[in-house]
Amino acid sequence: MRKKVIAANWKMNGTLEQANSLLDAFAAAPLNVNENKIAVFAVPAPYLMLAKEKLSGNPYLQVAAQNCYSKKSGAYTGEISVEILKSIGINYVVLGHSERREYFGESNAFLAEKVNISLEYGITPIFCCGEPLEIREAETQNAFVAKQLEESLFHLSAEEISKIIIAYEPIWAIGTGKTASNEQAQEMHLSIRAVLAAKYGDVANEIPILYGGSVKASSAVALFAEPDVDGGLVGGASLVADEFIKIINA
Ligand code: PGA
Repeated sequence: MRKKVIAANWKMNGTLEQANSLLDAFAAAPLNVNENKIAVFAVPAPYLMLAKEKLSGNPYLQVAAQNCYSKKSGAYTGEISVEILKSIGINYVVLGHSERREYFGESNAFLAEKVNISLEYGITPIFCCGEPLEIREAETQNAFVAKQLEESLFHLSAEEISKIIIAYEPIWAIGTGKTASNEQAQEMHLSIRAVLAAKYGDVANEIPILYGGSVKASSAVALFAEPDVDGGLVGGASLVADEFIKIINA
């Protein structure tokens, strides 16, 4: 059975005071998480250790970095290595978010390097893919997303790719309040799984595929009920404790 994953992406938001109160709320809330359904919190780097500490009482609450660099260590001022992440007990990293691709020029090939080093250190990549609006309007989104997967992931072995979490995030739905319909999400998730299955066979059924883009408590139940939607990557709504608790429990 493939795992359900509900991931929070705080992006570049929240002061220390706000981070403390959000983490306290999540640590105290009755959350429907277990070995088949985990919640992952991608917090800004300065709060990684704080988040680890605050959520340590529940093994099904995990902490993720929002990015990492492709090298093990060295003279790369301002970057964070997986070696550093591993040394503070971080087991997940978000890679290839559309904001990283767009504002920081991250290419599919560069992301392949980050995927490799993450897996080498036993850190699970939450690998983001998704099309911009003009691609959706041209109805070429399936091929666009397939190319992202092929160029960043398809050099991996079946065993390696079975350790990855994929997040489909249509760029036109991120932070816009305009979520993809449940049918649009399911259709793309099915397409992603078919692309994975064509290359890797049955392993495709083990890989969680999350949906991201304006997920709210009010939309989560129906969305997560789609057969190939295995959870969500949630931005804005993950910064509101009650809202994100409802999404985890959806
Ligand atoms: P959003 O962000 O939920 O605010 O649309 C999702 C994301 O970018 O991960």
